[in-house]
Amino acid sequence: EDRMTCVKKLAESPGLTSIPSFYTYTTNPKLDEAVSEDPEDSIPVIDFSLLTSGTPQQRSQAIQELGKACKDWGFFLLINHGVPEKQMEAVIEYIRGFFDLTEEEKREFEGKNLLDPIRCGTSFNTSLENVFFWRDFLKILINPDDHEFQFPNKPAGFREASLDYCKRIREVARELLKAISVSLGLEPCYIEKATNLESGLQVFIANLYPPCPQPELAMGLPPHSDHGLLTLVMQNGIGGLQTLHNGNWVNVNAIPNSFLVNTADQLEILSNGKYKSNVHRAVVNNKATRMSLAIANGPSLETMIRPAPELESKEQAAAYIGMKYKDYMELQQGNQLDGKSCLDRVR
Ligand code: SIN
Ligand code: FE2
Repeated sequence: EDRMTCVKKLAESPGLTSIPSFYTYTTNPKLDEAVSEDPEDSIPVIDFSLLTSGTPQQRSQAIQELGKACKDWGFFLLINHGVPEKQMEAVIEYIRGFFDLTEEEKREFEGKNLLDPIRCGTSFNTSLENVFFWRDFLKILINPDDHEFQFPNKPAGFREASLDYCKRIREVARELLKAISVSLGLEPCYIEKATNLESGLQVFIANLYPPCPQPELAMGLPPHSDHGLLTLVMQNGIGGLQTLHNGNWVNVNAIPNSFLVNTADQLEILSNGKYKSNVHRAVVNNKATRMSLAIANGPSLETMIRPAPELESKEQAAAYIGMKYKDYMELQQGNQLDGKSCLDRVR
């Protein structure tokens, strides 16, 4: 058996009724039982237009709600963000087209090393994993280096549409981080400055989860937190993302055209633990192919990230050591994805 084959090809094998044993995810077999059906567990919704063009009162209320969402959930749905629905749909269709390329065509973008500007593969890090995940991915470093020339342009138009999309997401993320700074009692530009956001790392992560004949046995992506500041996700209308809230997994039922936003580790560190990074996972289904596009927005790679001194107090001294973002990222990406085990190392 060829373990490096993409899941898409495996899932398309005629008459596939069971999954190869190395896709059996065993540490938490009772996936469904853990999912909360509590209607109180409804994911916060943030209206971006109120943050950018509301009255001062609407704006301050929206900032308060955003802060509460970061504190209580580390996760929210972002509506009225201004990115055109047509553009979101177009990018998803290009991603579908990319994954539809032949294995040979995709091999060109395979990448060898963790920080290669382009990596296309399956699972998470196949060199470390015993259990594989039911997921194919394409990861591209977008900012700060200009990797434009390397962005796949198969299918034709993919590159242009995606780069424009990423630019828009950068702006949305920057506005959100301003509001998050204010919600923490900091200057609006605090996070932007402390992270050198202008040259911050932005990663394009396209995910494909084909239908799985035994969805209860496999995992799309295991529980993890993201290493950066804020991740903005869109999907092709098919659910599968779950967020951990008060010890329960909550299904993310996205509002059409909204972004699924989660807070990540560098924000937890900067906020001195006030805003805990969100733990989430992706489960799979046996009916439809799920596609998602996560745009991860982080500090500049060379910047040392440490708790904001303003958020240290007698009761709460700095709870994390300072670390260069690049080192943190390599630490996380070089290990198996496993909840918040990486963050635990910098406490
Ligand atoms: C992730 O980026 O952690 C998963 C995104 C998704 O597939 O919804
Ligand atoms: Fe993630």
